[in-house]
Amino acid sequence: MPKIKITGGRKLSGTIPISGAKNSVVALIPAAILCDETATISNVPDITDVDDLENILTHLNARITRTTGKVEINSSDIINKEITAELSKKLRASYYFMGALLGKFKKVDMYFPGGCSIGERPINLHLKGFAALGAKITEEDNHFIIEADKLKGTNIYLDFPSVGATINIILAAVKASGRTIIDNAAAEPEIVNIATFLNNMGAKIKGAGTSTITITGVKYLHSCFHEVIPDRIEAGTYLILASLIGENLKIDNIIPNHLEALIAKLTESGVDMEVGIDNIVVKGSHDRKPISIKTLPHPGFPTDLQQIMATYMTQCRGSSIIEETIYENRFQNLYELEKMGATFKIRKDNKKATIKGKIKLKGAKVSSTDLRGGASLVVAALIADGTTTISNISYILRGYDRIVEKLTNVGAKIEII
Ligand code: EPU
Repeated sequence: MPKIKITGGRKLSGTIPISGAKNSVVALIPAAILCDETATISNVPDITDVDDLENILTHLNARITRTTGKVEINSSDIINKEITAELSKKLRASYYFMGALLGKFKKVDMYFPGGCSIGERPINLHLKGFAALGAKITEEDNHFIIEADKLKGTNIYLDFPSVGATINIILAAVKASGRTIIDNAAAEPEIVNIATFLNNMGAKIKGAGTSTITITGVKYLHSCFHEVIPDRIEAGTYLILASLIGENLKIDNIIPNHLEALIAKLTESGVDMEVGIDNIVVKGSHDRKPISIKTLPHPGFPTDLQQIMATYMTQCRGSSIIEETIYENRFQNLYELEKMGATFKIRKDNKKATIKGKIKLKGAKVSSTDLRGGASLVVAALIADGTTTISNISYILRGYDRIVEKLTNVGAKIEII
């Protein structure tokens, strides 16, 4: 099995270009099957989650042409058959085929999705939305058949602003008859990106990016060309890294607005950065004050950056605190960081961790526990003394486009072995 080997301690300078957002493209690709002509998506990152979605599309007999950074999807010849357990379980985002196939064919047959085991991650809110639109759901041993004679617009209140449920309900409602209103909808930038994509095809979606989204059903969706927004979590990962060992390191091709919570916290801690229109240059940081973060739905501090912030916190001048409110099991990476010297305490309910600062991290043999946990180890290895070997890197490659190349280009010693 491949591993990532890193020799730490080198200052990094130059430019890291940010790729298209994983959590956007993984919804855009399933959404493309709602298009009645050809949908073209650009700024597509080269990550294995995209490969896994391509395999599902091929299984369904869609025509997909993938060139560097671009996919064209034509769904005229789709065969709406069962998406096998093997394909469904490859990734979390396979669940977007539920909304997309239900919206297009009024029927979907697939299994419970996969994804990082960072919590229980139920899909009850997605199903509640489909049922409200008129679908009948049959579930047995993680196998779902969701079907409807007719999908009819309605009012749906989400008990929690779930990203996945919001997007899935939009997908199912886009061609339903009448008007659907989602209240307490998620407001992440990825939701806006998906709504813009569908509106470019002729859908009528208003309010994406706020907590109330209105979808007026349409019959036909025409061809369109759409760009994936920059990945705010990839950008945030490298921004944290730059705050630790960057020397005028530029994080380029980003939307700084999407990173407001992280920028605020790093600035509070004493990081000196210059925020441009589409980039951030980190000048350096010397006196890292300890900080507290609490993960929340957007625009709160993103849970997907919490684990990487834990690595940052090991270098602060006192103890820092992370409160995780989204997932029940997102501190697993701390036990791997511990092998490199990190010291921490996790509260009994697993919702709060205190991370000790001023730790000299040392190279070690560690294992990725999940995607962002893996990224927290990469950052730790880059600042540590000596050599670190990270196993289970398939998690990392699911979400970080050309990570080895990007880091090598700014001076890191990193290779896949
Ligand atoms: N939840 C429910 N019921 C539902 C749906 C969600 O209880 O039906 C709960 C979840 O268990 C969780 C919380 O609500 O505790 C948030 O879940 P949400 O649905 O918002 O997350 P998701 O759609 O499963 C996406 C991203 C995650 C990211 C979250 C939050 C994708 C494929 N995944 O997951 O990304 O953490 O939104 O921003 O878009 C990652 O990139 O590392 C990652 C885990």
